[in-house]
Amino acid sequence: MCGIIAYLGEQPAYPRLIKGLKRLEYRGYDSAGVALVDQDIQVFKRKGKVSNLEAFTETLASQTGVGFGHTRWATHGEPNDVNAHPHLSNNARIALVHNGIIENYASLKATLEKEGFVFHSETDTEVLVNLIQAIQDANDLPLEEAVRLALRRVVGAYAIVVADKREPHVLVAARKASPLVIGIGDKEYFLASDATPIVEYTNRVIYLNDEELAVVRKNGDLEVKTLANVPLTPYVQELDMKIEMLEKGGYDYFMLKEIYEQPNTLRECMRGRLNAEEGWVRLGGMEDFASRIAHAKRFIMVACGTSWHSGLIGEYLFEDLARIPVEVEYASEFRYRNPVLTEEDVVIAISQSGETADTLAALEIAKEKGALIYGIVNVVGSSIARLTDAGSYIHAGPEIGVASTKAFTGQVTLLSLMALHLAHQRGTISEPRYRQLISELAVIPDKIKKVFEQDAKIRYIAGEIKDRSNALYLGRGYNFPVALEGALKLKEISYVHAEGYPAAEMKHGPIALIDENMPVIVIATNRSAYDKIVSNIQEVKARKGMVIAIVPEGDSVIQTLADYTIEIPETEEPLSPLISVIPLQLLSYYIAVFRGCNVDQPRNLAKSVTVE
Ligand code: G6P
Repeated sequence: MCGIIAYLGEQPAYPRLIKGLKRLEYRGYDSAGVALVDQDIQVFKRKGKVSNLEAFTETLASQTGVGFGHTRWATHGEPNDVNAHPHLSNNARIALVHNGIIENYASLKATLEKEGFVFHSETDTEVLVNLIQAIQDANDLPLEEAVRLALRRVVGAYAIVVADKREPHVLVAARKASPLVIGIGDKEYFLASDATPIVEYTNRVIYLNDEELAVVRKNGDLEVKTLANVPLTPYVQELDMKIEMLEKGGYDYFMLKEIYEQPNTLRECMRGRLNAEEGWVRLGGMEDFASRIAHAKRFIMVACGTSWHSGLIGEYLFEDLARIPVEVEYASEFRYRNPVLTEEDVVIAISQSGETADTLAALEIAKEKGALIYGIVNVVGSSIARLTDAGSYIHAGPEIGVASTKAFTGQVTLLSLMALHLAHQRGTISEPRYRQLISELAVIPDKIKKVFEQDAKIRYIAGEIKDRSNALYLGRGYNFPVALEGALKLKEISYVHAEGYPAAEMKHGPIALIDENMPVIVIATNRSAYDKIVSNIQEVKARKGMVIAIVPEGDSVIQTLADYTIEIPETEEPLSPLISVIPLQLLSYYIAVFRGCNVDQPRNLAKSVTVE
């Protein structure tokens, strides 16, 4: 949520900032702006996408090698030019970009107003930049010192980069609960919300920790300190990210590319963790706490959005295979409801970005209460990955489309591996069944490829229903969370109202909505509940609803009942979500394209939700 990119080096900053902002645009696209630091500070900002800013700065000739930019997801104040970042202090000497929320901004603002400060925007950020000016003015302090003192008066979350035109060769950055990465290039530094704008120039990075401050200087100096001014020796890591991962690679949208990447990303997720010939699964991340995890009284999955849907599938997997009770919680609810937790609980945080503010806060609570915390995360080095006691990366590579696809199947794959491992360890699964599920998991990537053969048919169906304003998704058992996920995908990217429901619950409400205008997407692949799903389809048809059914290959019964069927390869039921979600991802993708929506950057959403 909000993206920051800063450059300090020998090359012109501006083109690097624009390129970086485009890479970060998935974090917010309400407005974009840059500050270029020379003898003076020039600020350019515009409502809307980075392309608007680019058009606005078309004739810009600045060659300065110091500057920073911001792409905004609005919290305080509507998206417009004035509320866009960077913000300048009243004396126009200090410029600042910010990701996060300053919670005590109102009281700080009132104090500053009494001192004569004037505010032009509605943002909390403008309060912070003026607080820095006030502190600097009162004591004639260098920028670094003033920033440190200001941050000690701030309550809330922030990643900031600040410049002072009296010190044009210096950038000061700091973080608390919002991410910030420092890229170390050849005679140049980058500061960014994540590594995506950096990877093209260097793979050497430092992840700043909470309440740390960094100062980079044109002479090559880099200092990292705590807010209490204690110098630190930063840990420099090597990034394992390739620039091609950040390009569309010939696809119209990142989302489509990411859907099509899934056979590969799942193979990456299973690499070294599953051996079908020898019949084992293991997760390095579980080894250090093997006994505590195997003897856990309860697992609690905390997550948001699509990751919460993965957690629901995890509940089915863990309870079914490993016979351990599981609860699945929205992180935002969990953190505020005084949950009962003990040291015998394992809390699993599921997060693509590893930065979701509510999930992070839920983990802090779980940690305080002594539970073991385990992370299932995609972004390497992210805050959640670093906060957990143990964890496993899903290795899906950067996911840029705001609607999550490959991260979802990666999370479900990892949860399947965990459930299988635990089931085997706890003796709750027979050896033949264990081996059978392992062999089946190993061929899921090939089966997903077969679903892609249905692409043209799914596109056709999307064309048929693109103008409907509602949709109902039904599924049972393992495929109930898939119905929720299918509905969420449609809502997110095509702005069509959609609901996911357990198929049998339809009778308790949603059936009242069904008429000839209501497409009902039914996931009808579960062998164990096949007849019941057929009955549910009959009920929809009896009320003139339009049925689109996801059916097992070769199905002949539902073919005769449904308006459209999409055949997908059969698999073992616990693994079926990995396949049944694919046609739903494609369906929502094509509907959004037909409706003329910006699939990768849907309105009002952001990929990395770093504020509550
Ligand atoms: C946002 C994204 C969703 C994502 C959710 C949780 O809402 O748009 O795609 O599922 O956050 O994010 P996380 O990074 O924690 O998985």
